[in-house]
Amino acid sequence: MSDHHLAAAAAQVEAVLQGRGRSPMVRSFFDEPTNTASHVVYDPETLYAAVIDSVLDYDAASGRTSYESAQAIVDFVREHGLTVQWQLETHAHADHLSAAPWLQEQLGGKLAIGAEITVVQDVFGKIFNAGTRFARDGSQFDRLFRDGDRFKIGNIEAIVLHVPGHTPADMAFVIGDVAFIGDTLFMPDYGTARADFPGGDARQLFRSIRRLLSLPRETRIFLCHDYKAPERDYYAWETSVGAERDANLHVHEGVTEEEFVKMRTERDATLSLPKLIMPSVQVNMRGGQLPEAEDNGVRYIKIPINRL
Ligand SMILES: [Fe+2]
Repeated sequence: MSDHHLAAAAAQVEAVLQGRGRSPMVRSFFDEPTNTASHVVYDPETLYAAVIDSVLDYDAASGRTSYESAQAIVDFVREHGLTVQWQLETHAHADHLSAAPWLQEQLGGKLAIGAEITVVQDVFGKIFNAGTRFARDGSQFDRLFRDGDRFKIGNIEAIVLHVPGHTPADMAFVIGDVAFIGDTLFMPDYGTARADFPGGDARQLFRSIRRLLSLPRETRIFLCHDYKAPERDYYAWETSVGAERDANLHVHEGVTEEEFVKMRTERDATLSLPKLIMPSVQVNMRGGQLPEAEDNGVRYIKIPINRL
């Protein structure tokens, strides 16, 4: 991304941060089995809303899906009389299945993800031998966002920032004075997201994080995951730009790109893959739809042997 483009995007972000009705309400839902935080963000004046990074419950041993997590979001939206405009995905998650298509049926809203999802579809379409019926053009989504794209939730201005590194398609959503940053940063005491999945890149992740940390210090940040931390026995998913700049274990002020890349690469080499990576990627690359049924009417999740 050119300096010119970054400067133009920064001016746009500034406009969003200064915008009218700039403080949305946020209600988060934490799914302990996958350590995922989903969020409902809404404009308190107009009651327009977006759902970010929802979870479809999946039991890997039995291959059963269920909707307790997603139903809690439906109940909240109905109780508060919200109108859902968007079902947003910060990226194609590798650790949980998205409930976005089911939530779309229940609540409406356009399904959106970053435009580089096509790269992810290409890579994983090959790994899972998904065949020619699996379109790799992002057509499973209603909208593919590019860096700097603007949208609104009611009267609140929002802007999309491309923050690759964890995966090529990661997006952050700055909505009024709040940023939903997906898998880039975690809580200050836990650090940053891994960058070793296909298409991941530690150097890109560092640059994306520095861009997020250039937002005003008071910007509230909502995370996609939390795993507690050695000194903390409760889950947390909200922090701020200032708190991350001061104290993030991996990227506090003063950490250089080279130091970060070395740390991240060494640490990633010790991590095992997420338990649900096989089902998650096969479903999420399809916009949260399960793979097509075979000729007996049953849908299957594949497991490539010695491939990941
Ligand atoms: Fe992720």
